[in-house]
Amino acid sequence: MFYEIDKGHGLPLDPFKCLVVPRPIGWITTLNTKGIVNLAPYSYFNAVGDDPPTVMFSSSAGDGPDRRKDSWRNAEAIGEFVCNMAVWDLREDMNKTSDIVPSDVDEAALAGLEMVPSRLVKPPRVKRSPVHLECRWLKTVMIRQRGDYGPGDNGVVIGQVVAVHIDDRLIKNGRVDLHGVRPIARLGYAEYTVADTIFRMIPPWAGPE
Ligand SMILES: Cc1cc2nc3c(=O)[nH]c(=O)nc-3n(C[C@H](O)[C@H](O)[C@H](O)COP(=O)(O)O)c2cc1C
Repeated sequence: MFYEIDKGHGLPLDPFKCLVVPRPIGWITTLNTKGIVNLAPYSYFNAVGDDPPTVMFSSSAGDGPDRRKDSWRNAEAIGEFVCNMAVWDLREDMNKTSDIVPSDVDEAALAGLEMVPSRLVKPPRVKRSPVHLECRWLKTVMIRQRGDYGPGDNGVVIGQVVAVHIDDRLIKNGRVDLHGVRPIARLGYAEYTVADTIFRMIPPWAGPE
C-alpha cells in the first residue's frame, strides 16, 4: 500500500508507530517544583549523539493547562531528568507508570518501585533498572501538531547526559555485556519486543577489534 499522510491510510488504526521499530523506551524520572517524583515511559526516545552524550524524549501535548505532560514540564522547570533502562523484568512496572494521574501523584510509589538517589541531578533512579543516565535539560524543540490529537505542540525534550550508572554485573572484560539484560522496546499498537539476540558485524571501514 501507499498513502500520503494528508490523504489518510484507510486502515482502522494508524500504522505509523509500526514503521520505525523497535523504539527504545526512555523511562523518565523527573521532579516537580514541589519535589514530587514523576516517572513515565517514552518510546519516542533515543540517544542523539555521543559527543556530548545527548538523549531526547518526545512528548505529545498533555491535558494540563499548559498542554505539557509532566515529564516535559518538570524537565524544563528543574532542568534535569534521568533515563532508566526499561527491561523485561520491569515491564509491568513500566506500564503502570504510564497511567494518567494528577501531577502531584508519584507514579514510582504507585507502582511500588524503590527509588535511589542520583549523584549529580535531583531526580532519583529506579533501583532495579540496570542502567541510568543522569541528564541536564538542554532545549526543547517544538513541533506543531496536525490536529489529530487536538491543539498543542509536541515537545522534543533534549538533555545532555552528565553521569551514567551501569550495574557492575554488566561489565565484563572492560565492555558492557547486555546478554541477559533484556531491554524492552516498543513496536506499534500495544506490541513490544525484547532485545535478547545479539550479533556482531564489523563495518568495512573498521580494522579488527
Ligand atoms: C511504552 C510506552 C511508551 C510511551 N511513549 C510515549 C511517547 O513517546 N510520547 C508520549 O507523549 N507519550 C508516551 N507514552 C504515554 C505516556 O507514558 C503517558 O502519557 C504518561 O501518562 C505521561 O506521564 P507524565 O505526564 O507523567 O510525563 C508512552 C506510554 C507507554 C506505555
